[in-house]
This record gives sequence, C-alpha cells and structure tokens, in this order.
Amino acid sequence: MTFKPKKLPKHLAIIMDGNGRWAKRRGFPRNYGHKVGIFAVERTIEYCLKYGIKYLTLFAFSTENWKRNKEEIDGIFQLIRNYISENRDRFVYDSVKINYIGTLNPFPNDLVSILEDARRKTEKCDKLTITLALNYGGRDEILRAINKIIRDGRKEITSEIFESYLDTKNIPNPDMIVRTSGEYRISNFLLYQMAYSEFYFTKTYWPDFNERAFVKVLKAYQKRDRRYGGTR
Ligand code: FPP
Repeated sequence: MTFKPKKLPKHLAIIMDGNGRWAKRRGFPRNYGHKVGIFAVERTIEYCLKYGIKYLTLFAFSTENWKRNKEEIDGIFQLIRNYISENRDRFVYDSVKINYIGTLNPFPNDLVSILEDARRKTEKCDKLTITLALNYGGRDEILRAINKIIRDGRKEITSEIFESYLDTKNIPNPDMIVRTSGEYRISNFLLYQMAYSEFYFTKTYWPDFNERAFVKVLKAYQKRDRRYGGTR
C-alpha cells in the first residue's frame, strides 16, 4: 500500500498496553507478555522505517509502574537491557537514533550505561528517532521543567522557552497517539505535547500489534482533518 508522504504522521507515540492480559489469557506469567511485547517493538520499528515515519515514541516505563512487583519490574529492565545492547549496532546500521525521556537515575547503573552508550553511538543517525519514555510521567516532566525554570531565575517565559525545558525539547509534538488493549486513557503520557495530537485506540493487545494494525493507524491518520483550532 502506498501513502501520500504529506499525509503521514511525522511522529507516532504509542502506549503499548495489554502485555499482562495477553499473557494471562494464555496462562503465562505477565513477564512473558512483556517479552513477546518486545517482538512487537521490533516489528513497529521496521514498519516505521518501511513507511517513512520519522519519530516513534514508546511508553516503556511510567513513573507509576514502580507500583508493580519487583519481579515484573526487574523483568522489564532485563528486556530493555538485552534489547538495547543486542540491537545497538543494528540501530547505527539502519540510522536509527535512540533517545529517551524521563529520569534515568532510579534505574540500575548498568542499564543507564547501556542506554547512554546507545544514545551516544546513534546521535548522528537521522532516518528514525526512537524515544523511549522511561520512568516518565507528563506531570513529573512539567514539574521538573518548572523547577529548572525557577532555578534559572526566570521571571516570565514564552511557550518556546517552556518547551526548551521539557524532556522532548529535541523532538516534534506527536501527530498521532496510539493506545493498544482497549483502554481509553492517557495515563500521564506526553500531557503538554498532545495538545493537538490525533488519538487512535485499538482493542489489539500490544504483543499482537502487527503490520495490518500499523497500516490501520496510518489509514486512520490519513482520514483526519487537522485544523489546530482553525477552520477549513
Ligand atoms: C503495559 O502492559 C506495558 C508495560 C507497562 C511495559 C511495556 C514494556 C515493554 C514492552 C518493554 C519495552 C522495551 C523497549 C526497549 C521499548 P501491561 O503490563 O500494563 O498490560 P495489562 O494492562 O494487560 O496488565
């Protein structure tokens, strides 16, 4: 299927939900759902490269996910660790830039080093920018930005100045936000950035997200009439 380039979202952001339920339905532990979810991450990156999406943001771990049990949290960290270290050279080869938003300090040191190394090695890559939201929450990001602004002693700011303090300062706002698994919530994702985003909700659980599902997102986007508050 061909898409008119101007009608493609430049930036897709995804709330990858439903891993736990996908696993439970099959009688597997929740972490198995996350493990299979990584294959969906791999596939989605391939589709972005294939269809020419320039920015992909993935909600991998929220500021609220610390409420999960330690075994599940450690399992998610291990998956991220393995996935990033095993694919780092492939990212360079495919010109995929790895970026992240959120605060990495509570993560294990070796995981932070793997992420930092991937970010450094891919910083000149420009075909696709993948932003991993890690220990990320929209409210936390906004509060951190405000505190930095106060520390900088600013008395008044513009939206441009405010945006330069956000974790997303180097990436455009998301054109389309996708949430899988049939939940209709935003869950503290990209709160400031989504002001004019389009939304797409699908019942598909994240581990089942495939090319057909991805193309449906692009087709839905092509039908949207974005007016940004104006008229046509
Ligand atoms: C939501 O499903 C999923 C998560 C909280 C974690 C998703 C993380 C990964 C797939 C690893 C990401 C890694 C990289 C490198 C991007 P859920 O557990 O909330 O599912 P449920 O709602 O069915 O319980």
